[in-house]
Amino acid sequence: MSFLSETLARVKPSPTIAMSNLARELAAEGRDIISLSAGEPDFDTPAHIREAAKAAIDAGHTRYTAVDGIAPLKQAICDKFARENGLEYRPGQITVGTGGKQVLYNALMATLNPGDEVIIPAPYWVSYPDMVALAGGTPVVIAAGIEAGYRITPDQLAAAITPRTKWVILNSPSNPTGAGYDEAHMRALTDVLMAHPHVWIMSDDMYEHLVFDDFRFVTPAQVEPRLMNRTLTVNGVSKAYAMTGWRIGYAGGPAELIGAMGTIQSQSTSNPCSISQHAALAALTGPQDYITESRAAFQRRRDLVVSGLNQCAGIDCPTPEGAFYVYPSIAGLIGRKTPDGAAIADDRSFAMELLNATGVAVVFGAAFGLSPHFRISYAASDAQLADAVERIRGFCGSLA
Ligand SMILES: Cc1ncc(COP(=O)(O)O)c(C=O)c1O
Repeated sequence: MSFLSETLARVKPSPTIAMSNLARELAAEGRDIISLSAGEPDFDTPAHIREAAKAAIDAGHTRYTAVDGIAPLKQAICDKFARENGLEYRPGQITVGTGGKQVLYNALMATLNPGDEVIIPAPYWVSYPDMVALAGGTPVVIAAGIEAGYRITPDQLAAAITPRTKWVILNSPSNPTGAGYDEAHMRALTDVLMAHPHVWIMSDDMYEHLVFDDFRFVTPAQVEPRLMNRTLTVNGVSKAYAMTGWRIGYAGGPAELIGAMGTIQSQSTSNPCSISQHAALAALTGPQDYITESRAAFQRRRDLVVSGLNQCAGIDCPTPEGAFYVYPSIAGLIGRKTPDGAAIADDRSFAMELLNATGVAVVFGAAFGLSPHFRISYAASDAQLADAVERIRGFCGSLA
C-alpha cells in the first residue's frame, strides 16, 4: 500500500512552476536564459504599499487576525467592488485569503461533492482542473480555439450544462490567452446562465486592470445583477499591484458561501498574513497610479511581442485584449525538425527544443488544455522581450 494518499493521483504539479524552475536551474548552471514562463509582473510593489507594510509591523499588527480578513480591508474591498464594478457587497459577503488561489480552492472545497461537475473553458489557468479534482469534483472542459478568439460560445456553455453542474469558471481577461469577454460576449453567457438556476458562477477577475486599447472590463454579476446571489466574484492584489509574493486574494459572494469558505480556511491556514492585509488595504485605498502606468507598459510590450511573433515562420499570434500573456498557435510548425534532427511533434517538444536551442523558456499549450500553442508571459523588460522574440524567430527559421 502506498504511503501517499489516493488524492495525489488526481493532481499533477503545476507545469508553469515546473517550467520556471527548469529555467532557473539552467540559469544557475550559467546558461543565457530568458524566462517568459512565470505569471507575475516584473515591477516592484509600489512604494506606498511597502511603507504601509513596514508601518503595520511597527504598529504591532503581527498577531492572528480574524480568519477571513480584518474589518478595514473587508470594507475597502466592498468599496472597491462598488466603485469599480458596480457591485454592492456587505462586509459579511467578503472573504480574504492567501492569494486568489486559496480563495478559489476554498470555494471548491466548500461546495463540491463527488460527481459534481465544474465547467472550465479551455485554454484554462492550469490550477482549475486540478483544484476541482482535489475537491472531489469532475472538471468538464469546453474548448475555445484561436478561431473563436479563445472565447466559448453561449451554445457551447448551454450544451455543457447537466443536472450535476455546480459551477462554471469564467476568467476574463484570461490566463493563458489574454482574451477578454466584452459586455456583449458576457451577456450572451449570462443569458444562458439565467436559464439554469442551479449553476453558480465563479468569476476569476484577477486581470481586471490589465486591459488594453478600448476594451472595457466587465464581470458577470455586473452585467446581470440577477446572478449576484449565485456568483462568487474573485479578485486580488497580486497582478493589479505587483504583489504576487504578498499572497492576498479576496472574493465577494452570498454570505452562506462566504461563511463556508471561512470554515475551510479556519481549519487549514487561518488568516492570511496580517502585514500583507495592511499592505493590501493601502493598495486598495491609496493612489492608483501604478495601475495606469503598468497598463501602458504592458500594452507596449504586448504590441512588441505580437508583432515580433507574427514575423516568425509558422507562428500565428492573435492580439489579446488583456492580461500579460500571448497564446500563439504553432500549428504551422508541427512535424518540422530542428537542425539536430529533433522532431517538433507537439507543443511540449517545441517548448523543450526552443529552450535547448535558444534559452527562451515558454510554457507549452498542453498544460492549459489547448494545443498546439505556447504561452509567453510578457512581464519582462522590453529589451528581454525583443531579444526573446529574435531568438524565437531564428529558431522557427531553422526548422526544416
Ligand atoms: C487566472 C488566475 N487566477 C488566479 C491566480 C492566483 O493568483 P494569486 O493566488 O497570486 O492571487 C492566478 C495567478 O497566476 C491566475 O493567473
